[in-house]
Parts: sequence; structure tokens; C-alpha cells
Amino acid sequence: MCGIVGYIGHRDASPVLLEGLHRLEYRGYDSAGIAVPHRGRPRVHKAAVRVAELRDRLQTPMPGRIGIAHTRWATHGEATDVNAHPHLDASGRIAVVHNGIIENAEALREQLTGRGVTLVSDTDTEAIAHLIAAALDEGANSSLEDAVRSALGAVDGTYGLVVLDARRPEELVVARNGSPIVLGIGDGEMFIASDLAALVRYTQRVVYLDDGELATVRAGAFQTSSLQANTLQADRAAKTPTTVSLEAEDYELGEFADFMRKEIYEQPEAVRRALRGRLDDRFATTHLGGLNMDARQLREIRRVKFLGCGSAYYAGQIGANLVEELARIPADAEPASEFRYRNPVIDSDTLYVAISQSGETADTLAAVQELQRKGGQVIGVVNAVGSAIARECGRGIFLHAGPEVSVASTKAVTTMSLSFALLGALLGRVRDLSTANGKRLVAGLRALPERIEQILALEEEIAAAAREYAHASHMFFIGRVRGWPVAREGAQKLKEISYIHAEAYQAAELKHGPLALIDETMPSVVIVPDDELFTKNIGTIEQIRARGGPIIAITNAELPADLADTVIRIPGNEPELDPILLGIPLQLFAYHLALKLGRDIDKPRNLAKSVTVE
Ligand code: F6R
Repeated sequence: MCGIVGYIGHRDASPVLLEGLHRLEYRGYDSAGIAVPHRGRPRVHKAAVRVAELRDRLQTPMPGRIGIAHTRWATHGEATDVNAHPHLDASGRIAVVHNGIIENAEALREQLTGRGVTLVSDTDTEAIAHLIAAALDEGANSSLEDAVRSALGAVDGTYGLVVLDARRPEELVVARNGSPIVLGIGDGEMFIASDLAALVRYTQRVVYLDDGELATVRAGAFQTSSLQANTLQADRAAKTPTTVSLEAEDYELGEFADFMRKEIYEQPEAVRRALRGRLDDRFATTHLGGLNMDARQLREIRRVKFLGCGSAYYAGQIGANLVEELARIPADAEPASEFRYRNPVIDSDTLYVAISQSGETADTLAAVQELQRKGGQVIGVVNAVGSAIARECGRGIFLHAGPEVSVASTKAVTTMSLSFALLGALLGRVRDLSTANGKRLVAGLRALPERIEQILALEEEIAAAAREYAHASHMFFIGRVRGWPVAREGAQKLKEISYIHAEAYQAAELKHGPLALIDETMPSVVIVPDDELFTKNIGTIEQIRARGGPIIAITNAELPADLADTVIRIPGNEPELDPILLGIPLQLFAYHLALKLGRDIDKPRNLAKSVTVE
């Protein structure tokens, strides 16, 4: 969601803040703003514009070695100049940037209005600025940290926030409850951000704040304490920094025009990294040390449930199929966003798998917390090391996909499915999956990076096919069993970046209703794996053709001549691994269709990366 940046140190703050915002813009991009104090008041520039435009508008220099900045994804209040962050208190002394949602915002706003405070924006955040100012006024000698702690005592909801008191330009106070905040430790300077992307060009030494934590940050030091504690109890300490292996180049476009295509092309390398050290030729199995489970514990698992949101949920469906097929353990996937609301039955023999690229998705994190509360055993399948879900689960499988910046997820989804193949093989080999099948799978997994390279070599062919369908207003994505989650993810990619309505359907369900929609204006992308259901899928294509519907077949099989209008034929592998490969041409299909329509590929409308609000 929103991006937050803070800086205090020996440099001019505004270039650091603007550069940080530029790196974080993928998290939210409907408005941007910056505050740097000057003579006891924050100078604020903010507007409902992209970061590049804010930078262009800042013609006058903003001298100052401390400041905060924000790029927004609107939740409370429209995307307007006045609703952009930072928000100020009435005296114009306190500036706040905030990510998250304050649930009792209306009540707080009413209370403030009752006390004579005039609120100028429609946001929940502005109330926090006024509350902090009031707490400072009440306790004349209190620290900014105490004032923030006291103000947040009245606040229900989620936040990652940074507070600047223009009269104390030697410190910033940050707090976290449900929305990520990370501190970057420099040499006599400190960086604050909602995401490593804004920090790694300056430092690799970072400290992640935990939920319920607060920190006072000065140029040469920081101190954390609990949000709950009162002044006397606050156990102030400095957490030990960890070193991240990310570099600034990981967030650069290089030769690519956008991150989505760059990340599509990073897939062979991402898969190689994700496989490193995890294939065991001797025992024809896989190693997943991060699970911290021995063979006996693996055998005790009676069910597997995958939980994720959006594309991570579709990857979870691929995972459920893989686990059932390879290990013969009942498995299913469920949207994490629904899970906690239905008072789920938690079974101690079930392995719950929380899936998330960012590791910060609020709905998935809440599902994990519900599981922990009820004593379920949950592992995380996460890309972002140090993220909330990774830390909450404490064990699992890291994707090693590298940072994903494009809002439309590609390499993360591929490495999620890959991780589930590794998990399925591991669970299978402690049960009845034969050595021969184990060997076959290990070889198939090892071949994946090369196969992905072969698919990427088909880009021009896929692009030409995509351009042909750019006039369509609706599309079906059809799949059966292994192809079904692939179709769902393909439809998801298309709709989110091209804005074409795309609906995924199970092949056999078509005839139970949706077939009525088929005519020459409704193209169907049909997933046709080279497996035991091949002839069934050909039958589905015939049904669509008989009604005049154009067909784009995505397959690793030899199709009868003239069956489909367009055939994208990719290399084969072991059938169980087909979903991993069949998804890749669909990424390129969506990408080129969106490109043809002139869409803003990395910043699709209404969306943002990392959904840290409910
Ligand atoms: C689609 C997409 C989203 C995410 C979903 C979960 O391309 O990116 O549907 O998959 O918001 O995000 P993570 O994986 O970060 O939990």
C-alpha cells in the first residue's frame, strides 16, 4: 500500500526522500508529499500527482537534514491534494505520514471537532497529527515518543507511521501496528521506510519494527520501546540490526522498459536460486530445511491447506493439486481473506501454508494469527525475508525470487508453484511416491529454468497473438484440473493490467451455463496440458468452436491442425510440473495485450503492491 520514507542525518533530506518515494511508488501512486522542517514549522509539498511530478514541482530547494515523505494509495478520502500526506496538526508543528487504516477515525474526528479543532482533510491520518499535538500540549515536558504513545492509545486500527515535530528537528518517532516499518542504519544517519526498496541504495543494515513497537530515531542512534508501556515501564532498547543481501540494482530497470517484463525475464534465474541446495539426487527427494520438520513429523501431516490472496491463492491451488498428486494427502486452497471470518475449524494434523510474496498482506497475516491463536501448525511460503508473515510463522520456504516491484506478480507466483512442487515431492517421498517417480520429478524440476528460457524465446510469437485480441472486451480462460488454477491466474494477469474483463472457468463447467456467452466476440484462452485429460480438453475446444468462439490454445502438446485460431506451443516437462510452465506464456500474453492498449503496466489503476490494509 502506501510508501513511507523518513531521513535524519548529514545529507540534504529532500533528495533522499524523493528518491525513496520513487523507489516505493509501486506501493501506491495516487498522490505524494514531503515535509522538511524550517524554522520550527514543517514545509510541506503534497499533491495528487505521481512522484516525478512532485519532484518537478519542487523547484525551490528544501534545505534541511531531516524529513518525512509519503506516496499514497487512498483508503480514507479521495486522492486529492489536501488528502495527500504528510498531515499536520492545527498549529502546523507536527507532521505525520501513515500507512494503514484507523478504524475509529470517525469517532476521533468528532472528538477533535468537539474540542474546537478544524480538520482540513477527509483522512484518518490527520486525526493522529492533532492527537499528538494535544498530547504534547498536555504534558509540556513530555518527549515526542511519549506523546505519540499516548496519542496512539486512543487509536484503533493499523498503522506504520513516522512523526516529525518541527520544533525538535533532531529526532523522528516511528510506530508500527500491522503495517511494515523498517529502519536503515547508516553512518551517522538513519533512514526509515515501509519497504527495503527505499533503503538499500544507502545501507544494508536494517532493523524491522515489530507490531506494537515504537522507536525514537536520531542521526546516530535509535531506541525501540513498546507501544503499550507507560513512560516509566517503557523498556527502551536498541534492537540488533540484520544485514540484507539486496542491492540497489535489484530495484533498477536496467535494459527493460518496465518491471513486469524485467521480472518475467528474471524467472529462470529466480527458479535456479529457489532450487539451489533443495534437490537430492541420492534419495530422489527434496530438502526444505526451513520447515524444521523431520520425516516422522512430515508423515504425521494428514491434510494440507494453502492460504493466500489473489495470485498467491491461485498458486496455492496449484500447490493443493501438487500435494494431492504427489503425496496423496488431501489438500485444498482457500482465500486467506475469508479464512478468519468463518471461525475456521483448526485441525492439529493439518499443515497450513500461508503464501505471500510481500509477507505483509494484511488478510494473510490475519489468517496466520488466527491459526497461531488456535494452535494450528502454519508455515510461511514467502518472498520477503524479515516480513511480518515470515517472522510470524518462524518456519517455511523462502521463494528467493528477488524483489518484485511490478504490481502484477510473475516471478513470485512461479516460485510459489515451484515451492509447492518441492513440498509435494518431499511429502510424497516420505510416503508412497516411488524412487523412480522421485527421480523423474527431480530431473523435471532441474530442467525448469532452461524450459522457461525456451518459453521466453517465444515472446514475439506470443506478443503477436496478444495484439490480435486487443479489441476484445471480454475473454474466457478455460482449464481443467491441472490447468484450472493456471487459467485463473492467466485471467487475473489479463484483467489487472489490461482492464479487459477476463473470467476463468473450469472446462467442464462451461456447458452448465457460461457457454451461452460464446460467440465470435468472446475469445477463449484454453489451457491444454499434454496429460491424461488431453482429449477432454480437445472436446471443450470443439464445443466452443461449434459456437463460433475464437480459441487461443496454450499447450505443450501437439494439437490437431486447425483446431484453434492461435496456438502457443511451449516445451513439455513432467506432467505434474506443467502448471508452472503453462503460466508463463499467459504472463507474456497479458503483458503484450496491455502494452498494445497503452496501459501503465507497472502501475495499474486502482491497485498497489503489498495490500497491508483489510
Ligand atoms: C496479482 C497480485 C495480487 C497478489 C496478492 C497477494 O498479480 O499481485 O493478487 O498476489 O495481493 O500478495 P502477496 O503475495 O504479497 O501476499
